[in-house]
Amino acid sequence: MTATPDTVLSAHAREEIDRWLARYPDDQKQSAVLAALREVQHENGGYLTTPLMDAVAAYLEMPAIAVYEVASFYSMFELEPVGRHSVSVCTNVSCMLRGGDDILAHIENRLGIAVGQSTPDGRIYLKLEEECLAACCGAPMMQVDHVYYENLTPARVDEILDGLE
Ligand code: FES
Repeated sequence: MTATPDTVLSAHAREEIDRWLARYPDDQKQSAVLAALREVQHENGGYLTTPLMDAVAAYLEMPAIAVYEVASFYSMFELEPVGRHSVSVCTNVSCMLRGGDDILAHIENRLGIAVGQSTPDGRIYLKLEEECLAACCGAPMMQVDHVYYENLTPARVDEILDGLE
């Protein structure tokens, strides 16, 4: 069977994309690309594949290369399999001055992985360091599955990581 958006994208993904498409003019379908990629990544366990991106491109009537450009530009999209929980430590200036680098080193030691890697059990993905997550007043901070944790200490980090299934 030839792969088409209808065979690659789930019914739920197509419904979700259609919901976003309804917000835009018919000739501006590409406006839904971020929402579409977010949805298919979520359904695919946290990362995008070429067939999924191609299906999104076909569904939105966009060139595939334009979808690849979006997916590779935004840090919220992953192009390889990653752990179930995404951990991003901010090491930009405010967080650095308040110990962000030490927090990151602590996490790497505790998990036995480097930035950009996932734990072998697939539980945690230590995402590339982020450039200021706009929570400087709570430095040092990190984001775990889109939730912000601020004023971190090694003990608090351990508590957060231990709570991830
Ligand atoms: S520098 Fe870390 S949140 Fe701004």
